[in-house]
Amino acid sequence: MTSSYEIRAFVPPDREALERLYQAVYGDAWAEKTNLGWTVGSSTPGAGAIVATLGDQVVAAQPYRDLPLDTPWGADRVSLFLDVATHPAHQRRGLFRRVVDRASAEAFERGGSIAMTTPNRRAARGFETMPPWARLCSLDCLVRPLGAGDRPGTSHLRATAIRAAFALASVGRLHRNGDGTRQEAPGDGIETPWLPGDDADRWSKTVAHRGGIMVARDRTFLQWRFGPDYRLFALRGAPGVAGYVASRVVTRAGVKVGLVIDCIAADAAAGSRLMAAALGWLETQGASAAVGYFLPQSMPWRSARKAGFLRLPAFLAPREYPVYACVRPGDEHGPALLDAASWHLSMADSDLA
Ligand SMILES: CC(C)(COP(=O)(O)OP(=O)(O)OC[C@H]1O[C@@H](n2cnc3c(N)ncnc32)[C@H](O)[C@@H]1OP(=O)(O)O)[C@@H](O)C(=O)NCCC(=O)NCCS
Repeated sequence: MTSSYEIRAFVPPDREALERLYQAVYGDAWAEKTNLGWTVGSSTPGAGAIVATLGDQVVAAQPYRDLPLDTPWGADRVSLFLDVATHPAHQRRGLFRRVVDRASAEAFERGGSIAMTTPNRRAARGFETMPPWARLCSLDCLVRPLGAGDRPGTSHLRATAIRAAFALASVGRLHRNGDGTRQEAPGDGIETPWLPGDDADRWSKTVAHRGGIMVARDRTFLQWRFGPDYRLFALRGAPGVAGYVASRVVTRAGVKVGLVIDCIAADAAAGSRLMAAALGWLETQGASAAVGYFLPQSMPWRSARKAGFLRLPAFLAPREYPVYACVRPGDEHGPALLDAASWHLSMADSDLA
């Protein structure tokens, strides 16, 4: 049976069959759970998928998108693997392993040094069984209660209870920093909504010169990643941009939640000013809480703590956020790429928000 599957690159005529695969995996709401526009729906070179087919059926897929990577040794490339899936009738036959293996081999052939993914629990168990893949790190879930927030649509008992809990938890926390001191108003110097232009390119170069590893936050990335549903805040420095935060509001379990998707600033004080501005905006949008995922002890993590975010224990977090990576065999920078402490990683490096 296994030998009749074909593993190959996605071609546009596969699109309908690929959509049927995601419908079989996620049901009728499949289009809300995956974003094929970022991969097979994009005409950008380095965006696509590896598929497993059986006759005219697509039975497994590993979509990917290559992105420029800033590193201490200069420009490099990462391939982000997004939303791997195997048709329920074909699971546990090694198809996940085969599409992932082929996708990483082809990413390295295209010149990438690293493939990276943020799997859910089930897929993570699969990556654990694939020796070239290693768990790079796990991001902490940080939550900032904001208040009862809006009631989106008909209110179920559970949603009402969650909103009441956030309202209670926010009492005394609003306008206070993590250390209990009064939070400064964001004040002048923060531009929102920020529409990244040339200033984003110039700022991205200064961030690259700080020497860490991150997917380049240049204008192309920011415009692609943060469409009209997102809100960007830029900290204005002298001259140009000195930092930014990306945010959006989503509804989960009948509760409006503000996501702080990314934050980059020179230090935690500047980062927390940006976060305070984002929190103010999220309150006006009726969010009951703000949620962010950041690398423990990193600058955005410290900014969030300073802005009053609480670190959630793993068992309370809505989702684990492990990052798995695989480096090109023999790459001289392999060990450096697998050093989590050098990375800037956030929800911006996934399709989860
Ligand atoms: C996760 C998923 C892609 C795995 O696909 P698959 O083709 O069945 O995986 P494989 O047969 O290649 O399994 C590889 C290994 O992963 C692990 N694994 C896969 N499914 C598992 C499960 N349900 N429970 C525990 N381990 C599992 C096993 O170690 C397995 O090796 P084994 O079968 O030799 O024990 C598939 O279950 C799926 O599409 N799930 C729904 C969509 C989804 O959650 N995608 C991930 C988004 S991040």
